Amino acid sequence: MQVADQNFTLVVFGASGSLAKLKIFPGVYHLALEGRLNDVDYQVVGYARSKMSNEKFREIFAEAVRAAVDNVDEKLLLKILERVHYYSGEYDDEDAYHKLAGWLPEIEEKKDRVRLVYFSVPPSVFSSIIHNVCTKLDTEFAKVRLILEKPFGYNYRTAKELEKELTSCYDEHQLYLLDHYLGKEAVFNVLSLRYANSILTTLIKGKHIANIQITAFEPGGIEGRAGYFEHVGTLRDMVQSHVFQILAFLVMSLPAQINEETLHREKRHVFEDFKVDDIEDSLVRGQYAGYLEEDGVASTSTTETFAALKLKIDNLRWHGVPIYLRTGKKMKQKWTAIVIEFKQHSLQEGAFEDLGTNKLVIQLQPQEKIEFKLYTKMGGTKIAFTELTTGRPIFCSGDCLHEHGRLLLEAIRGNRLLFLSFEEVFAAWKVIDPLLDAFAENKVKLEKYEVGGMGTKGADKLVSDDGFMWHNYFD
Ligand code: BG6
Repeated sequence: MQVADQNFTLVVFGASGSLAKLKIFPGVYHLALEGRLNDVDYQVVGYARSKMSNEKFREIFAEAVRAAVDNVDEKLLLKILERVHYYSGEYDDEDAYHKLAGWLPEIEEKKDRVRLVYFSVPPSVFSSIIHNVCTKLDTEFAKVRLILEKPFGYNYRTAKELEKELTSCYDEHQLYLLDHYLGKEAVFNVLSLRYANSILTTLIKGKHIANIQITAFEPGGIEGRAGYFEHVGTLRDMVQSHVFQILAFLVMSLPAQINEETLHREKRHVFEDFKVDDIEDSLVRGQYAGYLEEDGVASTSTTETFAALKLKIDNLRWHGVPIYLRTGKKMKQKWTAIVIEFKQHSLQEGAFEDLGTNKLVIQLQPQEKIEFKLYTKMGGTKIAFTELTTGRPIFCSGDCLHEHGRLLLEAIRGNRLLFLSFEEVFAAWKVIDPLLDAFAENKVKLEKYEVGGMGTKGADKLVSDDGFMWHNYFD
């Protein structure tokens, strides 16, 4: 079992925010529950603006864990709480950081450690934290590692600015750019499956494939996050990050060895090959009915809660294969999946009406599974075919970890494999920037779509114009 191998202090900026409560605190609890923190001294410090006692903050921490986890081990939780502290300060108050730096050694029993600084705050306060942490908290005995969550910047230019700001103070190896999809077992498994199965390595090549579809549907809406979402929209929130990462694992070249350097390099290369032709015909945006009535949303908002995109990969391996992506909120159900539709061979084409195309379905959520859609003769005297699904759900049976717990553990261990590099982030923004411009210039119609449905008509047209249809294999 992988365990924490370094003493650490986790300093969570924005400790009263929703990311901290929903993901970070339960992540710490899971690591402790699984015995992964037994050998180290760790402390958790929440930093936020509101004045609050340690006790109050410990209650918030405990409530967050209870809300996220079934059957909490209360005894263990009490033990964890002894290591939980609160520190109140403004994000731009140098003196507060100075005092924090003076106080931290009082709780850091074993001095030799890393300080993990988690940004659970809006980007508007990033600069102050970046600067003050660098000058006050990053010491020889307690090196700092910064964990920032996507989106990294709002476009290529602001991502560059963020990188400049960070690297003026920190080495690249101190930066942990987190996309929580990389903490999902199922997402990394897309890559592992290709390594482990020669038939997949053989089949997943452009010359055999008619099209690739990636869907990331969720039934939830913006869940009270209008302040964040209104500035971001689905293209940045889901496509530039999560959906592109899934696609990269499927289509990138497989290096002989996977390590931080080779993985980052190959993802960057494949993002550089992503091309969107005729943006107006390749991009779809939608907004769910009722979005404008959500708290905090402007009545004239054009923020998209659904996006679909057709792209190509401009290299020999993928030449001519259309790739369709779609993602949205308030959809029929949670479903994150890759569907690879194979070409028919010349004897199949048109030979029998009921003979469809073969598909490989890699479902990532809600339940991970992999299935082949094959055709078999129905039996009997008639030559007629029926679809046969072979495959099965995949349950984690190894050293299983929850996504934020897993990523925290990787950061504690100093392993950046499951985090992003700025180079790949830049390459992804270069694809997305012209699409954002098309939205801003109103070149892409904003379509309304029904809550609980399958998205916009435009998304259906995107594939049907090429003679395809979306394949939905919901559980
Ligand atoms: C987050 C987005 O990164 O991912 C949310 O900001 C989205 O808007 C969420 O709902 C989806 O994550 P998951 O793990 O539920 O698929």
